[in-house]
Amino acid sequence: MKIVVAGTGFVGLTHAAVLAENGHEVHAYDIDLAKIGAYASGDRERIEHYVNEPGLVEVIGETLGRYLFFVGPDAVDAALEGVEAIFMAPPTPPNLDGSTDMTAYRAVAAFLAERLARRADPSQRVVIVNKSTVPIGTVRMLQGILTEHGAANVGAASNPEFLPEGNAVEKSRRPDRIVVGADDAADFEILRRVYPQFHHHVRIGYIETTPETAEAIKYVANTLLLTYISFWNGIGARLGETFGEIDMEDLKRGVTADDRISTWGSYVSNGAGGSCFGKDIQSLMYQFRSHGQPYHLLQAVYDINEFQKSYLLDRAVHEAGFNFNNRSVALLGLAFKKHTNDMRDSSALKVVEGLLARGVREVRAYDPLANAEAARWFDPARNHLFERISYWPSAVEAIQGTDALFISTDWEEFRGLGEVIARTVAPPYLIVDGRRMLGDVDRLVAKGYQVLPVGGKLR
Ligand SMILES: NC(=O)c1ccc[n+]([C@@H]2O[C@H](COP(=O)([O-])OP(=O)(O)OC[C@H]3O[C@@H](n4cnc5c(N)ncnc54)[C@H](O)[C@@H]3O)[C@@H](O)[C@H]2O)c1
Repeated sequence: MKIVVAGTGFVGLTHAAVLAENGHEVHAYDIDLAKIGAYASGDRERIEHYVNEPGLVEVIGETLGRYLFFVGPDAVDAALEGVEAIFMAPPTPPNLDGSTDMTAYRAVAAFLAERLARRADPSQRVVIVNKSTVPIGTVRMLQGILTEHGAANVGAASNPEFLPEGNAVEKSRRPDRIVVGADDAADFEILRRVYPQFHHHVRIGYIETTPETAEAIKYVANTLLLTYISFWNGIGARLGETFGEIDMEDLKRGVTADDRISTWGSYVSNGAGGSCFGKDIQSLMYQFRSHGQPYHLLQAVYDINEFQKSYLLDRAVHEAGFNFNNRSVALLGLAFKKHTNDMRDSSALKVVEGLLARGVREVRAYDPLANAEAARWFDPARNHLFERISYWPSAVEAIQGTDALFISTDWEEFRGLGEVIARTVAPPYLIVDGRRMLGDVDRLVAKGYQVLPVGGKLR
């Protein structure tokens, strides 16, 4: 099938590449020409500058120029000729009041509607499919935009994306489910042909429903995942920090042995970041608020997650008596989670803000993938205090000469940090473990280091 994907960020690029891998002719469209140029080069470094996902460069390399094409606004008309499905994957960031900023979405929708209204052969059915996470009712809004522009025989559908960053390609190849929300039988049929390998799959649920249900599934799924995380952070972490004898690992194993209880999310941390959880829960709260509905549970889940991101700095001051003023602190982990360079809503942003607000002299940062991305976020032209941040190619170099360190991302390599710390910096030294990565805490404590873990007492 001929398919267009509009918006080639994490979602659009991965989706386009995996559709191409499945033998569709995919034209991936973006207004960002530098991005399009980088993807079309097939060059690993240039692609990963934008989207760094395991296996993605390989899929692009295998399909580029045969099944996968990258186009800017100039080449869209040709790409739309004979197209059957158009996936919408522009950004839908939060506004300050939590509502969804639909500017990019509306711009793409109007741009496409205008072109589809004057296509050569309107007898062929086309469906525009929302992949971006958009408020409930957006398919109806899209139908309105299409009607307004006189785009005939063009359907609107919802097919939300559930891919987790860091494992995006694998999850696109083998998703847990495909959700399609539409009104028209012809649109359901087009999507079945987009995903023939998933329709009637023995394990992968293929759910056809109303557009509103499909849109709601995405919000409910994401807020439930964040609820698990906030449950463990709000209850598990507080228990471990109150009663020193509680073993967090045993607590988790004991509770989640019940197969009605999710093991996913049953960990304590300095909060969950990423481009979706925080924005989606804020959007759902806004959608409830604007319909006069209460949303106490969502507010609590959101507040707990935000609290977790920086409260360890307060514990460092109040429990460990650590004075951050004029001190040097290593920050290990910048991305919002391992296996990605994505900094959006990363807990590390709050940690850096908190460290600078407490007057640290320098932040020596290290992340296996996100150093360059972080340097863009912390641009000294925006805030001169960001000059205090330096980036290092390894944990050991970041730690050198510091008075404390903060672990903010769950990169596996941080599990071995105990040895590195003992070789590199002498006590007194404070280790704030926001991800419970350190395994050899007893040895460190015996040598005189202070360890302050999330979900545990200061040692
Ligand atoms: N990142 C995730 O893990 C994830 C998972 C599921 C759903 N989503 C949702 O998918 C959507 C996209 O997320 P993302 O992380 O890929 O965003 P992104 O910011 O990485 O990518 C969006 C892309 O859209 C392009 N764009 C912006 N305006 C455009 C326009 N007018 N015309 C064409 N292209 C335009 C941008 O240049 C960019 O390349 C969001 O709604 C998000 O909530 C994201």
